Amino acid sequence: MAKYGRIDKLNEEKSNKTIYNREIFSLLFKYIFRYKRYLIYAILFVAVITPINLIIPYFFKNVIDNVVFKKGYLYKNSYEVSHLISMKEINLLLKKARFLVGDKYFIPSSSLRYLSKKEKTQLGEKGIISKDEFVLIEKPVLNDEIKLRFSELIRNKKLYLYPNNIYLLNINSLSNFKVSELLKIRQKDLKRLEIFIAVIFLLLIIQFFSSYLQILSLMKLSQYAMRDLRKDLFAHIMSLKVSYFDKTPVGRLISRATNDVETLNEFFSSVMVTLLQDILIMLGIAVMMFLVDLKLAMIVIAAVPFMIGLLVLFRMKARKVYLLIRTKISSLNSFLNETISGIRIIKIFSAEDKNYSKFKKHNLSLFDAQIKQLYVMAIFRPLISFLRWITIAFIVCWGAKGIVQGKVSYGILVMFIAYIERFFSPLHEISEKFDIMQSAVAASEKILSVLKESDTERLETDNFNSIKIQSITSNNNYDKNHSDSGALLYSDSSKKLKGRIEVKDLYFSYRSDEWVLRDISFSVEPGQTLAIVGRTGVGKTTLINLIMGFYIPQKGEILIDGMRIDKIPLNILRRNIVSVMQDPYLFSRTIKENITMGLEYDEKRFFEAIETVGLREFMEKRNYNENEMVMERGATFSAGERQLISFARALYVNPSILILDEATSSIDSETEQLIQNALEKLVRERTSIVIAHRLSTVKKANKILVIDDGKVVESGTHSQLIENRGLYYRLYSLQFAY
Ligand SMILES: Nc1ncnc2c1ncn2[C@@H]1O[C@H](COP(=O)(O)OP(=O)(O)O)[C@@H](O)[C@H]1O
Ligand SMILES: [Mg+2]
Repeated sequence: MAKYGRIDKLNEEKSNKTIYNREIFSLLFKYIFRYKRYLIYAILFVAVITPINLIIPYFFKNVIDNVVFKKGYLYKNSYEVSHLISMKEINLLLKKARFLVGDKYFIPSSSLRYLSKKEKTQLGEKGIISKDEFVLIEKPVLNDEIKLRFSELIRNKKLYLYPNNIYLLNINSLSNFKVSELLKIRQKDLKRLEIFIAVIFLLLIIQFFSSYLQILSLMKLSQYAMRDLRKDLFAHIMSLKVSYFDKTPVGRLISRATNDVETLNEFFSSVMVTLLQDILIMLGIAVMMFLVDLKLAMIVIAAVPFMIGLLVLFRMKARKVYLLIRTKISSLNSFLNETISGIRIIKIFSAEDKNYSKFKKHNLSLFDAQIKQLYVMAIFRPLISFLRWITIAFIVCWGAKGIVQGKVSYGILVMFIAYIERFFSPLHEISEKFDIMQSAVAASEKILSVLKESDTERLETDNFNSIKIQSITSNNNYDKNHSDSGALLYSDSSKKLKGRIEVKDLYFSYRSDEWVLRDISFSVEPGQTLAIVGRTGVGKTTLINLIMGFYIPQKGEILIDGMRIDKIPLNILRRNIVSVMQDPYLFSRTIKENITMGLEYDEKRFFEAIETVGLREFMEKRNYNENEMVMERGATFSAGERQLISFARALYVNPSILILDEATSSIDSETEQLIQNALEKLVRERTSIVIAHRLSTVKKANKILVIDDGKVVESGTHSQLIENRGLYYRLYSLQFAY
């Protein structure tokens, strides 16, 4: 079975490829656009988070270059330089320079880093810039001793004093001072450092809250969207015709509403906006690096092809194993599902060992697939790490060389290292995000194929319509709608039909190849009982399904009270016809809910119903009240007890037409005798169709229809048919005689 499941899945995946991408896109965004304000918030936060990520390393650079290492050259404004460096460059330098007094400027070393050492020496020899570097000191706090040494340095031309209490100290003389003295001298810069730290701290706080709010709005967006999508999916699935469920495995539909929706959730909450943000940050970093230092930027960019190659390789490998794992998980799931559901049969035939070894096989192949994934996963992160550190090492080497040559500042080096960290960090997840994206497309394809299934019941007269509308308009409290849906099913259908059934020239087939029912005609007057008799598989249940409106006949028509059933609103039709099947389905809800089936609870009617069918006596014996939970589709009840509940269900609805489809075959003869009166009462008060093996109601029926091979072969009352000595007589003498 698991094997078939897999083939089925493959087919399913193939056939879905025909759905256009545009539709997938519009499905994804239809649900998001309802909550677009959260999307807008999230994108607004991108506009906050991205610049902060870019600016912090740049801040580091400025702190180091302009506060810590505030060195530069004394520059004398002179046009003699023009043969060494161009006027344009001079003007550029002067823009970054600090005017001191007269024709004197202070030019930070970082502004001169594009000049070679030779050019700098030449400029120094001409007296255009100072030979040595100087440290700019603003408003130092001086004690007597330092004052004394300062005046000596001034005399030796190692220190210059300019207006506004600005000193320029030859960098070689820094070693004349102790650390404590330097701290005093450079107090102003230390203040600046504090301000820088405060600003960075503030930026980090802003980033923290922005990220927090961004994640929150994305999660909200996603949860709202998924809630709506699940609602619409559920409403749509509920609205599909019974025939859709004949051909669609239940597990697949469940997976649509759970796994596939969850994949989309992941996409919305952790990929959509964050991927955009990651890419923006990476681009921004690249731009910043190029603006600050071309050569170092080139080194980092040189790592990009390796990065991309690694990602592509990884994605190829990872996708393969990911798909493998998914198929293994789904086959293990279906195996478990089947085995656990069929545990009784397995025990009866002592097939535990066989199943255990089958399970071991499934388990092992899942394990193997997981191990494969492990190897791929385990190598990826270390590889990215490796690449990052190699890049950092190159940057440090080149940067250090540049520092020695005066071409790179300490600040730039620090900035680059910080940028590389940030540049590589999204890579860890980016590949995962691409996978989620791809899965999201696949998931929406599958969800779409369900949502697009147009084989729905008549919506225009149908109250499923109201569920649908509700699910779109109401944003709050899914649970409320959820539990209400049962009530909507039968609401507002108080119109009571009289119950005259007329079937005319009916032809029907499930598949196109052969008729299951041929040329069936009969009628039942209100309040009368029709019995249908025939061998297994002749089409009795099919006829009932047609009267219930589950399927549409190819030819002929079914009239109730003279109206074609496809003209009767479905809620009215279903409210007026109730069928009790051989194997009734119980929900894992309370006994009460199983009987009222979402109809308004009426205590008197409820107790009357359970009393009439003898359920009350049974409940008292078991000490159950009406709020007792039915476990696992009624596994704790006997088949007969389950049937009693379904009789009570029919009685509670009080339909105009009652159909009993071999409803008593799972009830033992003793119980049958007990509920005989109730049954007779049940059928006497309304139009009834009874399909039965050994029920005496068949004998009492106003008319008996004998079906064979999809056709009515005999009809009449019991005594007429016995007299006929036809099929009925033979069946009767075989089965009904007791
Ligand atoms: N949902 C279905 N899809 C296709 N064929 C079906 C379906 N239900 C029943 N059949 C086929 O239609 C024929 C009549 O079935 P049914 O009406 O259930 O017989 P019965 O008289 O025993 O109730 C059978 O041959 C059965 O295999
Ligand atoms: Mg049947």
